[in-house]
Amino acid sequence: MKRTHNCNELRKSDARSQANLIGWIDSVRDHGGILFIDLRDREGKTQLVFDPENKELVELFPKLKPESVVEAGGEVRERDDETANPNLPTGEVEVHVAALTIHNQSQTPPFPLDAEAEKVGEDLRLAHRYLDLRRPTNLNTLKLRHRACMAIREYFDDNDFLEIETPMLFKSTPEGAREFLVPSRLSPGKFYALPQSPQQYKQMLMVAGVERYYQLARCFRDEDLRADRQPEFTQIDLEMSFIDREDMYALIEGLLKKVWKKTLEVEIETPFLRMPFEEAMNRFGSDKPDMRFDLEVKDFSDTFRESDFKVFAGAVQGGGVVKAFNAKGLADLTQGELKHLEDTAKLLGAKGLAFIKSENGEWKSPILKFLSETEQDSLRTNLSVEDGDIVFFAAGEWESSCNILGRIRLESATLLEKRGILNRSSKDWKFLWVIDFPLMSHDEDQDRYVATHHPFTSPVSEDIQFLDSDPKKVRGQHYDIVLNGVELGGGSIRIHQPELQKKVFEDVLKIPADIVQSRFGYMLEAFSFGAPPHGGIALGLDRLVAILAERESIRDVIAFPKTQKGQELMTDSPGTATERQLRDLHVRSVLPEA
Ligand code: AMO
Ligand code: AMP
Repeated sequence: MKRTHNCNELRKSDARSQANLIGWIDSVRDHGGILFIDLRDREGKTQLVFDPENKELVELFPKLKPESVVEAGGEVRERDDETANPNLPTGEVEVHVAALTIHNQSQTPPFPLDAEAEKVGEDLRLAHRYLDLRRPTNLNTLKLRHRACMAIREYFDDNDFLEIETPMLFKSTPEGAREFLVPSRLSPGKFYALPQSPQQYKQMLMVAGVERYYQLARCFRDEDLRADRQPEFTQIDLEMSFIDREDMYALIEGLLKKVWKKTLEVEIETPFLRMPFEEAMNRFGSDKPDMRFDLEVKDFSDTFRESDFKVFAGAVQGGGVVKAFNAKGLADLTQGELKHLEDTAKLLGAKGLAFIKSENGEWKSPILKFLSETEQDSLRTNLSVEDGDIVFFAAGEWESSCNILGRIRLESATLLEKRGILNRSSKDWKFLWVIDFPLMSHDEDQDRYVATHHPFTSPVSEDIQFLDSDPKKVRGQHYDIVLNGVELGGGSIRIHQPELQKKVFEDVLKIPADIVQSRFGYMLEAFSFGAPPHGGIALGLDRLVAILAERESIRDVIAFPKTQKGQELMTDSPGTATERQLRDLHVRSVLPEA
């Protein structure tokens, strides 16, 4: 017999008809000899009832273990008001089973597949990912991801983009992350690298005259993993010819509008706010500020330039800054919480985390004795300090001081949330374009300039004149799209002139000419054969779906994610290679000493 309905389909109007369902046993209940089973499939659940008079069926009862796959046919009957289940869409009916086939009897699962599963270690669930995915909350996330992808494909198709695949076996790229290498059998001693992104290929597609390209592209980066990073992940990657930044903002705003509408039925407001990098750092201590709450950072460098508090005065006189923000309402933080904030600041390179509390009409702080009346007034006024508040300071180099307070701002928000003073709703979507990034950043360790994003980003045209004299003054035509403190994506208008690209490689980034030639020679050559002006962007699909699904980690929205250690526990990858395989690939493995 064939399946007639899915498990979320039968309604009161189907009463007295025949149905044949197939799915997993979700739960079994025995009510004085009458067996009730909730049968579950991808779409939902339906209650089955077993007549104790049916001897053939009764014999099967002991085999009806949860998670077994069974097929059941019988009459649909309306439940009376007392037994109807208002929490289930199919709750007004049940199927009185006349015939049953057990397709596969399940062992007892290693963890319960209900809400209790969350309490089990993630490793155990990842090792049996096929079971964990059966849970509706996880299956629904995969469905949401699918719907988002469909909306994305539809949007790009409507906007005349071509979906084009680019190679997975590539070579080293300058995106900055460590790469996964693949030894070549046919070219001994040579290696492919898995792409960190399709950056170079998509630019070549523009030179090829494609004009509008997109791809849901798999990307590989051998980085240290966190909740928002996986070694392999997916980008919504695109590139367009003959556009400027405004075109890109409008295109992506339209895309996200469509995705939110199609997946959540939510209208998001466009255009999005825009903020220069410097302002984002100054006000929120981050290049990806969470705009759902204030706690804004203010600059007090002028106030403390001549201060008796040498830590602050010294920072300013040394070319740095003093910054502070008011964690409003957090003066009652515990010793442990304060210690955690201090440790966090120190991890980011701070020597300490000066603070002032305002409690019972009094200011309290180890540094209060060093601060003049005028300095205190400046703080009180500019930060609107009231009773119950606590002000945190960072003094030192601009960028690191911003970053430190940016982190403390986020940690404070978490602490304020615990106290019910602040609320960052996951349904409050605050989109933001961060723009005007510096094209180059100075790498202290290597004492040279490195591309803030990648070396193909075009400088803002009026800044090109400073490329030689003052590279850090040059802004890039880069844009990041940020949502609730998450960097969703980034891109730029690219360089399409061979001379300028060569200059950036050789004169600004100081990449030796022979290396430029071997790695990017083909690109410079391509740009000399009629390269259109072009630009693009890539959005992290996993991050996007995690936000839509209100999940903390992108692991939750990837079917088979990797652990912190880069392992996929179900298949136990990575695995070892045989001697034969290594020999064929011309590689020898040298293990670290145990
Ligand atoms: P970028 O390196 O900023 O830009 O990457 C774009 C977006 O990809 C997502 N992302 C990740 N998601 C999960 N795990 C990771 N390890 C990971 N790394 C990045 C982020 C990020 O914003 N080629 C350029 C784009 C361009 O210029 O067009 C690029 O790859 O959401
Ligand atoms: P010190 O005089 O070094 O003991 O510092 C006095 C207070 O200022 C202590 O609470 C330190 O944690 C804090 N502090 C020290 N250096 C900095 C800094 N660069 N930024 C912010 N606070 C600091």
